[in-house]
Amino acid sequence: MSAQLDIRQLAVSYGKRQVIRALDVSALHAGEVAALLGPNGSGKSTLLRALAGLQPCRGEVLLGGRPMSPRRGEVAYLPQTLPPAVHLTVFESLMVAGQATASGLARRHGDEQVFRLLQTLGIEQLALRHLDQLSGGQRQLVGIAQALIREPSLLLLDEPLSALDLNYQFHVMDLLRRETRQRQMVTVIVLHDLNAALRHCDRALMLKDGELLANGRPAEVIDDASLSAVYGVRGRVERCSQGVAHVLVDGLHA
Ligand SMILES: Nc1ncnc2c1ncn2[C@@H]1O[C@H](COP(=O)(O)OP(=O)(O)OP(=O)(O)O)[C@@H](O)[C@H]1O
Ligand SMILES: [Mg+2]
Repeated sequence: MSAQLDIRQLAVSYGKRQVIRALDVSALHAGEVAALLGPNGSGKSTLLRALAGLQPCRGEVLLGGRPMSPRRGEVAYLPQTLPPAVHLTVFESLMVAGQATASGLARRHGDEQVFRLLQTLGIEQLALRHLDQLSGGQRQLVGIAQALIREPSLLLLDEPLSALDLNYQFHVMDLLRRETRQRQMVTVIVLHDLNAALRHCDRALMLKDGELLANGRPAEVIDDASLSAVYGVRGRVERCSQGVAHVLVDGLHA
């Protein structure tokens, strides 16, 4: 069955403060990468945690038409702030992460499969290094590998590019799009880099104050009007000489 994701009337509160209000998102398709965009504090991480089953919420989250259960191992989630590193090697940490797979069975991943994933991410040289001795960007790349080795139907990544250099930012987005298609999973990525959303994503969801303001193709969602309404900037979206859309910011609204 297709892993299409539907969100119905999702609401999240912290105490008395409602942060996500009756949010509906229909048909995030299997094989597609959706960018979750919006200003600081708009509710992106809260929404992702709710989808991962880590945040109490009201409403429904349906994956392939049935209520999603994170316990079935269908979801892999990379938090915005990485948890404290344990004293395991990168390789060992991936073997542990690979125990829980989408099938819900404790399947052991072979050494070769783990090594191949590290190679795909371009970090095979880190295999025997300890997690607590890596740089911020290296840890973020390992976090992405740990999410991918779980073979989820729904992959949730909260600002996975924030510590990466230009080369890895492009490489990771390119890889995520390919893997998402190949594995027919639904991938939702929180991004502040609108240019990455324009270039690498199939869909863009724009949140403001916990409400979904736009949902469509990135080039339809990211325009002068939404830059102004959502981010409060005076900006333009222009195509470069290679025909790729880019956001340019000219200033802020007074
Ligand atoms: N544990 C918490 N308790 C109370 N309020 C919280 C908690 N976590 C987040 N909030 C509040 O909920 C709102 C949404 O926060 P959230 O972290 O989801 O935003 P975000 O869109 O991910 O922002 P950023 O781009 O800065 O990461 C903010 O106003 C924030 O202050
Ligand atoms: Mg956040």
